[in-house]
Amino acid sequence: TDRYAVIGHPIGHSKSPLIHGLFAQACGHTLRYEALEGPLTPADGFERLVHDFRAQGGLGLNITAPFKLRAFALADERSERATLAGAANALKFEGGRILAENFDGIGLRRDIEVNLQCPLAGRRVLLLGAGGAARGALLPFLHAGPAELVLTNRDEAKAQALVAELAGRGPLRSRPYAALAAEGRFDLVVNATSASLSGQLPPVPASVFSPTGTAYELAYGKGLTPFLKLARQAGVRGVADGVGMLVEQAAEAFAWWRGVRPATTAVIDRLTVPLE
Ligand code: ATR
Repeated sequence: TDRYAVIGHPIGHSKSPLIHGLFAQACGHTLRYEALEGPLTPADGFERLVHDFRAQGGLGLNITAPFKLRAFALADERSERATLAGAANALKFEGGRILAENFDGIGLRRDIEVNLQCPLAGRRVLLLGAGGAARGALLPFLHAGPAELVLTNRDEAKAQALVAELAGRGPLRSRPYAALAAEGRFDLVVNATSASLSGQLPPVPASVFSPTGTAYELAYGKGLTPFLKLARQAGVRGVADGVGMLVEQAAEAFAWWRGVRPATTAVIDRLTVPLE
């Protein structure tokens, strides 16, 4: 049987085995997809787990926190997306080599544009955060042709460095949180910070939201986070969490490994928990 797995720590609540199991069923593929707890010790425990999985005939891996940077580092070849994110969320073992990809950003874009039917072309987009999650979203967002993409981070230097790295790739600029009140409304505001994981709110003013626009929270399964609550209070009707992104990045990985892109709608419906 073809073998795949997701590695993370903790991995107990991962939805990836369920998602890939549903994809395989729908596509008529026979495969085994496991959740593997990545060891934090010894220091090379993660790398050993990857190499052991490959040695046992594994064909591909999904990688989640906190191993995305290490997965990127151990690969032999890296896609441009993964390189810009500095992180890998999927590995493929092919011809004795380890290939690294990062489908988080493309999954996010697809969820927003296809599932939520919120095309980014010509729109004003605000992205909060400059960590791995935000980095992964930048190129896919720029490729969608927004009127402008504004990047905001508490540590302003990190946002400025990212903008410099992407110079010439599209209408991207960075603004501090304190300057956002002067920026008017955005059609799409994406929270790619990790603030919601600790119940915190990034210092974003309510004036950035447009009632006819969309607010997107990358975290999922947290209900209405402080960020989504703020958006709701500002009158935004289109609020979403990251469950669709999770399923879409999984579909990209499945297609990369198996050559067939599975349908995602039914799987997203099955995993969606109402936000209220
Ligand atoms: P991830 O991989 O989820 O992106 P990360 O690389 O650790 O995680 O990055 C976390 C991001 O969330 C950073 O952009 C961080 O901002 P700083 O770079 O200024 O630290 C952001 N973040 C975390 N908590 C936040 C908070 N309470 N308010 C605003 N931004 C926050």
